[in-house]
Amino acid sequence: MRTIYMDNAATTFPKPEAVYQAVDFFNRHMGGNPGRGSSKATLQAGSILMDCRDALADFFNIADSSHIAFTLNITEAINIAIKGFLRPGDHVISSSMEHNSVARPLHVINQHNGVEWTTVPCAGDGTLDPEDLRRAIQPNTRMICMLHASNLTGTLMPVEEVGAIAREHDLLFVLDTAQTAGVLPIDVEKQSIDVLTFTGHKGLLGPQGTGGIYLRPGLNINPLKQGGTGSLSEYLEHPAFMPDLLESGTQNTPGIAGLLAGLNFIKEQGIDRIRSHEQHLCDKIIKGLKEIPGVTVYGPVESIKRTAVVSFNIHEMDCGEVSTQLDYKYGVVTRSGLHCTPLAHRTIGTFESGSCRLSPGYFNSIEDADIVIEAVHEIASSR
Ligand SMILES: Cc1ncc(COP(=O)(O)O)c(C=O)c1O
Repeated sequence: MRTIYMDNAATTFPKPEAVYQAVDFFNRHMGGNPGRGSSKATLQAGSILMDCRDALADFFNIADSSHIAFTLNITEAINIAIKGFLRPGDHVISSSMEHNSVARPLHVINQHNGVEWTTVPCAGDGTLDPEDLRRAIQPNTRMICMLHASNLTGTLMPVEEVGAIAREHDLLFVLDTAQTAGVLPIDVEKQSIDVLTFTGHKGLLGPQGTGGIYLRPGLNINPLKQGGTGSLSEYLEHPAFMPDLLESGTQNTPGIAGLLAGLNFIKEQGIDRIRSHEQHLCDKIIKGLKEIPGVTVYGPVESIKRTAVVSFNIHEMDCGEVSTQLDYKYGVVTRSGLHCTPLAHRTIGTFESGSCRLSPGYFNSIEDADIVIEAVHEIASSR
């Protein structure tokens, strides 16, 4: 049985061949710890970090690539932003579709650090009215922290409008691009993003263990960690400049070599082509599932309003059972349950049931979509 991987919202698979090769080549033939001394190996490793930073800057229209720091994943990047900027007495706004990577750190600082937190309710399909967000602004509001697209419904947030509201009120705009980086154009200037967080292993097609954070120049942040950076080693004080400020300890250079290869692949293919293929798959799956009796599909109907993430349930069937049948009987890999986003499940009304999620990627074919629709049809008919 052929495996059809449709869990790209969790992590993309497979990666482009060049990504595997880049990781392997670094590990076998380069080695070296960036910034630690001046051996050839060290300098070569350093140039991988620099090249990847430059490629990311190009990708997100960031003027100065040194303002991008690498992290283990987007969860670490979001924690750095939330805990590094917010102080007791501050107020922060998010949406009701946030992933736990935003919601849990906000919950902690709300419960223990005297930070006020407002969650702006979204509609049943996950859409956010930016005017609702504007109405939540208070005199002590310091930050808007939200996702670009939901990992449960794919719903796209009105990022440009929210960015403009943040600018107008002099608020920090922190964006979680876990579900959009690599599949939708992101421009920190056009979208007024002050702090861009990204993960390397999803749409950017890099390996797990990669991600990062961009800080608009001029922002003052308290780093979560201090340690070796290879710079200013004579001082006990941690460097105050980017990226060293947020990059303590040895970086995941093999992973970053892979991430660079992923970025190059996306550039070669063209982000519009990737988006258009994923939208096509998404349209087909939504239409196919909606025609099956007993199947409920969540999120906006039009694929233009969402990423290629399709959550659904089959009436009176446990979502875990559906996911297991898809995997074991049909070779289709999905995710089921609460998808690390209880807030979003409450918003769309699936907190009790969870959902089964199909997330096709660039390497899926139209034939894959047909097989998946037929598989769900058979499972639904056998109830
Ligand atoms: C919207 C959103 N934010 C954050 C994350 C966390 O990503 P990571 O595990 O790479 O930190 C995810 C992962 O699914 C996500 O979908």
